[in-house]
Amino acid sequence: MEILVVKDYQALSEKAALIVTEEIKQHNMPVLGLATGSTPEGMYARLVEMFNNNLLDFSSVVTFNLDEYAGLSPDHPQSYHSFMHRHLFDHVNIMVENTHIPHCGDQNISEFCREYDRAISAAGGIGLQILGIGGNGHIGFNEPGRFLSVYTHLVELTEETIKANSRFFDSPREVPRQAITMGMGSIMHASKILLLASGNNKASAIQKTVSGIISTDLPASMLQLHHNVTVLVDQDAASLINSSGN
Ligand code: PGA
Repeated sequence: MEILVVKDYQALSEKAALIVTEEIKQHNMPVLGLATGSTPEGMYARLVEMFNNNLLDFSSVVTFNLDEYAGLSPDHPQSYHSFMHRHLFDHVNIMVENTHIPHCGDQNISEFCREYDRAISAAGGIGLQILGIGGNGHIGFNEPGRFLSVYTHLVELTEETIKANSRFFDSPREVPRQAITMGMGSIMHASKILLLASGNNKASAIQKTVSGIISTDLPASMLQLHHNVTVLVDQDAASLINSSGN
């Protein structure tokens, strides 16, 4: 694991955008795994800015999003479909048909999940996977528990995640209870992984991710087994790393 500590959220967003840019420029058909949530918002803003300055071309970029709420219409303002359009897709020259976000509609859910994983494989696998991290150590919506799933699947969200995400909804009761998420195998198959974290509320999860025991109780700890992971954190999120002796 490479751990990069930067000063603050702005520096984190800037560095993350540069890493994504490098990935896009290195490949004829770059395949990006994308994350939503507050953490990557600054990175997307920077990527849009670079596109507007003619520094970046998304015309051959293929994307697969990590997750989406189940039972929320794609056009709901808090859906991850809406998030991606609002923060990136509507502002750059990406081809909508090259973007993928889990949504099964009327389709059988297991069938949909299998197709999502097949589509990732058919695109040649994910070249660079962007990840945020939950305060409980989830990645995508792979929540702590006794088991982790390998493939894309339907998941019950934990109370902690529902509470954390309720800030985006009018009330906690509106937060969907289920989501579709890529599995740990889908994530671990990416050639490169970039994990982003900002703020004190992520410090404990980051410390356990980089130097804790590998456990399904903290899904992000599995990343210690991946051969090419960059953990990009600001000083607040890194504040417990040294005290752990790492
Ligand atoms: P956040 O969410 O970026 O909004 O903190 C990250 C996550 O829960 O994976």
